[in-house]
Amino acid sequence: MGTAGVTPGSAAPAAAGGGADAGVIDAGSTLFKNNCVQCHSVGTDVVVGPGLQDVHKRRSEAWLMKWIKNSSALIQSGDKDAVAVFNEYSKQQMPSFAFSDDELKALIAYMASESAKPQTAAAPSGGPDTAPGQNVGTDAIGAGIGNTIDLLLVVLVVVLLVLVITLIIIASVLKNYLKGKGDLTGAEQELLERRTNFANIYKSKAVRIIVGLIFVVVLVDISIDKVMGIGIQQGYAPRQPIAFSHKLHAGDHQINCNYCHTSVYKSASANIPSANICMNCHSQIKKESPEIQKIYRAIENNKPIEWVRVHNLPDLAYFNHSQHTKVGGVECQTCHGPIETMEVVAQYSPLTMGWCIDCHRNTPLNTEGNAYYDNLVKLHEKQSKGAFIVASNGGTECSKCHY
Ligand code: HEC
Ligand code: HEC
Ligand code: HEC
Ligand code: HEC
Ligand code: HEC
Ligand code: HEC
Repeated sequence: MGTAGVTPGSAAPAAAGGGADAGVIDAGSTLFKNNCVQCHSVGTDVVVGPGLQDVHKRRSEAWLMKWIKNSSALIQSGDKDAVAVFNEYSKQQMPSFAFSDDELKALIAYMASESAKPQTAAAPSGGPDTAPGQNVGTDAIGAGIGNTIDLLLVVLVVVLLVLVITLIIIASVLKNYLKGKGDLTGAEQELLERRTNFANIYKSKAVRIIVGLIFVVVLVDISIDKVMGIGIQQGYAPRQPIAFSHKLHAGDHQINCNYCHTSVYKSASANIPSANICMNCHSQIKKESPEIQKIYRAIENNKPIEWVRVHNLPDLAYFNHSQHTKVGGVECQTCHGPIETMEVVAQYSPLTMGWCIDCHRNTPLNTEGNAYYDNLVKLHEKQSKGAFIVASNGGTECSKCHY
């Protein structure tokens, strides 16, 4: 992990732009923690995107500013470096960030200053001091659960081994003692001649309980690993069967989200549009395009287009779109990021339990003009001075999201 070009021990990091002060680096650090750590480390580790150590040396400041603001524009402009990283990272799209030039410079100064520090053992640049709105909570808890169970498993196996060995030792000591003893009673003789019988051992209640316990622990361990895995899909941007672009439709042509995702304000799930909705326009527009021909074929063969699902919560969690979009007034982009700039949809948020709960703890309820909340608001004001947030209304109760 060489920090090439930096004299070891030199205190002042060579920040891009020259001599960025601590305040600027601090501001950059906050921006980075709030927006970038899910996908990047300022080391050499690849999280979702590349490790950003020394990125200020690889790229010019102007390039970095353009990239962070809108990487897809830079890629589309044909910039060689941009196209190369994009291809290297299997064409995943990095979200765009509408930062001011000062903010961008602060970010770059922060990355430069971090790069100059000696690398501590693969610590993610976020560190333990999690910034607000940043999800780390559940992953940490989950990893905690996983580790505890692994530890339990090891302890159990060790205890079992010790138990078996002790039993064998006791048995052989006993047998030796009996052999040494001259005149044996019938029962003693029988004991001496009895071979270790595994069927009998398994019939013993204690052994069965121990084996059962190990089995259960292994099962729980495996299923937790599985569930944990589901949450870690941030940045997932699978290739779709038709090169459908949200940037073109929702961005350039400003088609409303609910023109296609018609149920997103009405029901729990947001539907993916059927080929017929595409036909509202494509029976006229771009009929000759090979991509559009695929829609025609789907309709002729009466086979739905097999879009690859991007977002997927595990079955154990309940999420309702209309509760958030219609009742809560939360924008699509708050959870899905700047979809209208994405050529290919990528999962923007972590979709972990910690992420849901973080927002519920920080978001005031949208009570305006909602008679249902009138009394609840009054009640809340009597009981507490804090804001009436989603959590005050039970938004962190397990049963709201798990049944
Ligand atoms: C959702 C994941 C995600 C987030 C959030 C994200 N990036 Fe990226 N970033 C990527 C991916 C993936 C790439 C690789 C290029 C590509 O596939 O587009 C990348 C590439 C880059 C590069 C180019 C690296 C190189 O070697 O040229 C820079 C610089 C960068 N990101 C900076 C940032 C900064 C700064 C932030 C926060 C403001 C950020 N990224 C947030 C996913 C992300
Ligand atoms: C012209 C129709 C159309 C419009 C308009 C549209 N979408 Fe989509 N959307 C689709 C199609 C088709 C898919 C499935 C293919 C894909 O993932 O790209 C999709 C997929 C998605 C997904 C990923 C679903 C998954 O698999 O998890 C999200 C999130 C999404 N759209 C959000 C939005 C948002 C937010 C807007 C408005 C800014 C929007 N869409 C506008 C057609 C549309
Ligand atoms: C409200 C109108 C509208 C709807 C609905 C619509 N599109 Fe489009 N689509 C457009 C327009 C406009 C263009 C841009 C045409 C151009 O570039 O000349 C376009 C372009 C495309 C292209 C690029 C074609 C090419 O070769 O350049 C694809 C692929 C596409 N749409 C797929 C879809 C799919 C799939 C659906 C249904 C999920 C859909 N569209 C729904 C209006 C629509
Ligand atoms: C509070 C966060 C949040 C908001 C706001 C939100 N979504 Fe979602 N969206 C999700 C989650 C979480 C999933 C995954 C749901 C699942 O797997 O059951 C999802 C999934 C989807 C899907 C895939 C189909 C589905 O229902 O699983 C589409 C399409 C989609 N969202 C579109 C939208 C559109 C369009 C908007 C705005 C009108 C929107 N979303 C607003 C969190 C949100
Ligand atoms: C960006 C913020 C945000 C995120 C992220 C978010 N929620 Fe919410 N959620 C809200 C708001 C705001 C409300 C309150 C809506 C209302 O006014 O009733 C809400 C309400 C709810 C409710 C109803 C609570 C009640 O008291 O009746 C459930 C259930 C829920 N959310 C589940 C989820 C789940 C599951 C996730 C994660 C997959 C999630 N939410 C992520 C903002 C969010
Ligand atoms: C606001 C919604 C919400 C609330 C409240 C909530 N959960 Fe979850 N929970 C989720 C979501 C979403 C997932 C799946 C996300 C994932 O896989 O990381 C999940 C996953 C889990 C898992 C699977 C392991 C894991 O960490 O991924 C367990 C166990 C769990 N929740 C227990 C609880 C308990 C106990 C409570 C009450 C203290 C609770 N949850 C409250 C949304 C919620």
